[in-house]
Amino acid sequence: MQIVRQLDPLRDALTEIRKDGSKIGLVPTMGALHRGHMRLVEVAMEQCDKVVASIFVNPAQFGEGEDLDAYPRPEAEDAALLEAAGVELLWAPTAEQIYPEGYATNVTVGGISDGLCGAARPGHFDGVATVVAKLFNQIRPDAAYFGEKDYQQLAIIRQM
Ligand code: PAF
Repeated sequence: MQIVRQLDPLRDALTEIRKDGSKIGLVPTMGALHRGHMRLVEVAMEQCDKVVASIFVNPAQFGEGEDLDAYPRPEAEDAALLEAAGVELLWAPTAEQIYPEGYATNVTVGGISDGLCGAARPGHFDGVATVVAKLFNQIRPDAAYFGEKDYQQLAIIRQM
């Protein structure tokens, strides 16, 4: 499994992976992988030819008082799990690859983001929609896999 952290090598690796017309499944995560994530990887493996996983602890979806620094980052263990599951490529970008200096564009999915968890965590779902839009643009997967545990998040991503 290749681990890629910069956009240029990501583009090269994806060109190579797509050469034979492979259908690519993406499993976006923030790491600290558990059985739920690995089930998403399994389903992606069943439905796609090649699976790309991403690990990025997205600062834009953490609000005030939510401790970004304390979020677990067991990257070596996560990478070992993904490799054992047959994942082709791990996209583990640096923050600059997602939010380059001067970035000023955010994605808001109106309405559906406002109530429930969105009411208690202002800006959270904008952060989620923004990073997922960026991951879709960077990887251009044929299919993407998200857990159903955070149902509002899933609904927002479907809408986007
Ligand atoms: O559900 C998560 O782990 C995150 O919200 C996601 C979808 C990877 C975006 O950072």
